[in-house]
Amino acid sequence: MIKLYDKHFKPLIPASQIAEAVDGVARRLNEDYGTSQQPPVFVGVLNGAFMFLSDLVKRLDFVCEVTFVKVSSYDGMASTDTVSTVMGVGCPIEGRDMVVVEDIVDTGASIEHLVVELRKSNPRSIRICTLFFKPQAYRKSIPIDYAAMEIGNEFVVGYGMDYNQLGRNLRDIHVVCG
Ligand code: IMP
Ligand code: MG
Repeated sequence: MIKLYDKHFKPLIPASQIAEAVDGVARRLNEDYGTSQQPPVFVGVLNGAFMFLSDLVKRLDFVCEVTFVKVSSYDGMASTDTVSTVMGVGCPIEGRDMVVVEDIVDTGASIEHLVVELRKSNPRSIRICTLFFKPQAYRKSIPIDYAAMEIGNEFVVGYGMDYNQLGRNLRDIHVVCG
């Protein structure tokens, strides 16, 4: 059990199980992008996706680019509908295959905002890859192409994910328990 500010969190998913889920997604990406003509661009969504993205790209056996964007929408433990881009991709994306890498897709507001922004630069394709997907919370129609794991509507921290910026460095996923 750990305490971050006013909340307690207990272990939910051990690092070993996360590693297996990352292996699974990497295997699918290797199948789908292994024969791409042009290196795909992996776009990590900061801050939460930094750990997942770094573990994921180490398992890819094809040439790719890695870059980051930053959006903000979450406030404490609640998703808000106002999403803004704080930092853009910073590389040419016209005609490129993009894979947006998220820590967790909840309502889908962040990912929809990002996809709408990225489409303006005419990429060849955009797919979504996320460590966690909360299907019961998802309210958008953009397909979530690669979800390493699905969880319910609980609030989790660890492996990049935070509660008000704390908890990102935890190796195991922890869930709020009061
Ligand atoms: P959405 O815009 O509602 O889909 O929320 C997506 C973003 O909110 C994710 O990229 C996370 O940064 C954050 N988020 C959503 N659920 C959680 C959670 O359970 N723990 C920590 N952050 C979360
Ligand atoms: Mg995020």
